[in-house]
Amino acid sequence: MISQESIQKILDTVRIEEVIGDFVTLKKAGSNYKGLSPFSNEKSPSFMVSPAKQIFKDFSSGKGGSAVTFLMEHEQYTYPEALRFLAKKYNIEIEETAQSSEVIAAREERESLFLVNEFANKYFQNQLWEDPKGRSIGLSYFQERGFSDETIKTFQLGYSQDGYQVFTDYALKNAHSLEFLANVGLTKVDGDRKLDRFRGRVMFPILSHTGRVLGFGGRILTKDTKAAKYLNSPESIIYHKSKILYGIFHAKSHIAKADECFLVEGYTDVISLFQAGVKNVVASSGTALTVDQILLIKRFTKNITLLYDGDPAGIKASLRGIDLILEQGMNVRVVLFPDGEDPDSYSKRVSAVELNSYLADERTNFLRFKAKLLLDEVGNDPLEKAKAAREMVQSIALMPDELDRTAFIQETARILAMEERILFSELGQIRSRNITKADEQARRESRPQAGPGEAEAVGMHVVESVEPVATSMLYPQEEALCSLLLNHGEKEFVFDEPDEENENPAAESIAAYILSELISDGLEMDEPLFQKVFQHFLDIYNNEEQRIAKAEEFLRGGNKDLMHKVVDLISEEPALHDWKRKKIFPPEPDAHLRIFTIEAVLRFKEKKIANLIKGVQKKLQSGEKVDMSDLETVKNLTLLRVEINKKLKRIL
Ligand code: CTP
Ligand code: MN
Repeated sequence: MISQESIQKILDTVRIEEVIGDFVTLKKAGSNYKGLSPFSNEKSPSFMVSPAKQIFKDFSSGKGGSAVTFLMEHEQYTYPEALRFLAKKYNIEIEETAQSSEVIAAREERESLFLVNEFANKYFQNQLWEDPKGRSIGLSYFQERGFSDETIKTFQLGYSQDGYQVFTDYALKNAHSLEFLANVGLTKVDGDRKLDRFRGRVMFPILSHTGRVLGFGGRILTKDTKAAKYLNSPESIIYHKSKILYGIFHAKSHIAKADECFLVEGYTDVISLFQAGVKNVVASSGTALTVDQILLIKRFTKNITLLYDGDPAGIKASLRGIDLILEQGMNVRVVLFPDGEDPDSYSKRVSAVELNSYLADERTNFLRFKAKLLLDEVGNDPLEKAKAAREMVQSIALMPDELDRTAFIQETARILAMEERILFSELGQIRSRNITKADEQARRESRPQAGPGEAEAVGMHVVESVEPVATSMLYPQEEALCSLLLNHGEKEFVFDEPDEENENPAAESIAAYILSELISDGLEMDEPLFQKVFQHFLDIYNNEEQRIAKAEEFLRGGNKDLMHKVVDLISEEPALHDWKRKKIFPPEPDAHLRIFTIEAVLRFKEKKIANLIKGVQKKLQSGEKVDMSDLETVKNLTLLRVEINKKLKRIL
């Protein structure tokens, strides 16, 4: 776990413009920087970085946050991953706190295995480019397959010598331990004998989405039919075949931009499509698609397009994949290639333009794809048609979203020329069966949720975005208050007018004033995000000796919606909008803030109380039983409202 001191040190050192500058070309614009949004395909720059506030704001996607949350959004790092990335960039040593020796040992072993793999990756590439045999055998193989030098370098392709322990000897000479070489599977140890796993093969390093070398695939070059065409690293603590997608490191930003991921079967399919300009592509590398792989894609997009061979094996693979993807609530489309061709061979045969139009024209949504497959066999047999319908509904039943299910049932009805009603009733039956099955399974396994990740270990909760709620009537009033808290909470004014009781009212901070005004009347905000902001200020004020919370405390990425809202409020103060629009600039920068705060509090109260009164009146009208306390409430609220309106008139 990263210590609080280290986290603070990282956050204090980091310059957001430098961090983002590594990913986005930024141009100075006044006191800010501007660039093209890395989250969408825009033509004119609407992506803003503020060095003064240390935040970014992307007006095209609505995203915003700190340097850390930028890395979380753009690179899909977890919070600790982002911190470690920044520590590395700024050469900050990370102190780890209170960790068991096992945890430390495990981390050290992982790091050592990565080091060995990175060493091997450099070695294999070096062999390919520098060694005479590497060039004549390995490099020329790739070139014959049509890979450009640039492509070969991008994918860090390499070559392993055809000897027994050429690599192992070299690694040992360079102070790598045999234990780690064996643990990542680069060396097979048998008593005193050591044997290179990869011999005489061209090498494909398999990179994690952050670019670390997880393992290798090696392709044989001879026509030896006994040996496997591809040999892969064995499972290890850093290589889990079922969680890996080949190509994800190079594809991820293209996937996010295109909002679509092409999924192919093999290493060479990825590389060839990438070279042909279709860069949002990854491979499941010969294994049947797994849920973990789908979830890795889901970090970047909800749209997957399967590119498979048109042979029976390819079709079967796509059908299995479809259901898994639907179950994760994602959209799936399919492109089949002509029998006997894979994306690699096809993309070599045609031009980039033809390839793109093939993908665009042949891309079929899963339903039409499945229908076509099934209907080809059906002919006019009504029983067969019913069976086809059931199979299609079975896929639809897996979709978690009800609106999606409805839309697809309607489309199925159209395609099959069947009544929607019948299909809906079939859907209902299948779903209740599935739900019972899932329940039973959950009970049988009764497995606890996945253990806390490191995110929790550093003291933050990863909260998925909250359900969108209807905008509250008080939205503008609540927004104004939150904006004041976030942007000016610490500034002090004398808010109270002197009177008999208190001739010399003391100065207090804007935050303290807003908190006490709302608390003393027992008022809360309606909009959940604003209430969270308010509550945080209140908690910190009460629990930390009246400390005023800071805006950056919301920028740790826990609740994305909350973070984006806070960034909105600190990057452009809605409160000041009107002043700016009317070109009324206050004489002193903060002179207006006192009046503004008082007005914002009163307006919020006025609106809130009006709403409360309306609530009680509704109750009265609907004929619900009312008691004295309701009438009392209305009376008190009305008095309060009159009071507030008087004050409002006075200050305006
Ligand atoms: N694969 C594997 N082990 C094998 C065969 C295949 O791991 N013995 C995986 C590889 O990731 C391979 C993918 O399955 O890329 C698809 O296999 P295949 O279609 O046979 O290979 P291609 O990618 O077409 O390779 P090539 O074009 O080099 O023949
Ligand atoms: Mn192939």
